[in-house]
Amino acid sequence: MTIPIILDCDTGTDDALAILLALASPELDVLAITVAGGNVGLDRTLANTLALTKLARSTVPVYQGADRPLLGSFFNEPRIHGIDGLGGIVLPDGGQPAPEIASDAIRRILRTAPEPVTLVGIAPVTNLALALMTEPALTANIAQIVLMSGAWAEGNATPAAEFNALNDPEALAVLLACGRPVVFATLELTAQALVTPERLGVLRALGTGLCLAAACDIQASVPPSRRLPGAPLHDPCTIAWLTRPELFTSRACSARVDLGPGIGRGRTVIDRWNRTGDALNAVVLETLDADGFFTLLGERVAMLP
Ligand code: RIB
Ligand code: CA
Repeated sequence: MTIPIILDCDTGTDDALAILLALASPELDVLAITVAGGNVGLDRTLANTLALTKLARSTVPVYQGADRPLLGSFFNEPRIHGIDGLGGIVLPDGGQPAPEIASDAIRRILRTAPEPVTLVGIAPVTNLALALMTEPALTANIAQIVLMSGAWAEGNATPAAEFNALNDPEALAVLLACGRPVVFATLELTAQALVTPERLGVLRALGTGLCLAAACDIQASVPPSRRLPGAPLHDPCTIAWLTRPELFTSRACSARVDLGPGIGRGRTVIDRWNRTGDALNAVVLETLDADGFFTLLGERVAMLP
């Protein structure tokens, strides 16, 4: 039984590895890849996504989505992802996006899918929120929502907020209120998925395919973290949760997001100890078997062309 998913991304460096891992995972049926702005502008995140699906010789349709959040505008992160979003690694041009707007495609798929679909968000979740805001009944055909988003403690975009959550907190609030479980791969989880030169060397030696080489080159372009002894590989953690949940421990909790205008904006308040007594609308991933994660990543991406 494969898991049908829609993968929503803002293809920067870690999104690239998540896309390749998803396309290489037989446990997943990737129905669509939808693209928003975020790490870099939508023109680049879309081009990067199309280049990666072509490199992987995938026929999964790619849909253009939001170039701004529900309120305001996206802020980018070229310091991590480069101006082009892939750390300056140039891939052959991809094809064309499918002729449908991302949120329309998400609604069409949820409306017609024969079984519940998992939404995977590794970007500001604007596309996902737009789909659910315009047709709320579609939540009945969502199996679960899995997000790389948020943090229990400090953020990475501000001291309070993680990048995806801060880029569209209102959209995250829509998902948290939609009635379907939201699984969080927070910064504390992804900080356990640290890319080091040694791990990158092991990955690179696993095969000779263009996708593995591109994945390693893209990851090698990421500057060292200021706060961790390696580069946290954020987005692929969502795919690993779906394919190898035994690599993780998790906990049901309640979660909210701060929509204020101040320094706390975009902060995810994840109540792991149920101090608020709020409804348990989320699951937070707490620990990761990092060696198992990198073994999975390498084995799968090495299988691609
Ligand atoms: O905070 C990390 C997240 O923000 C990742 O999804 C990264 O790609 C950026 O979008
Ligand atoms: Ca991302």
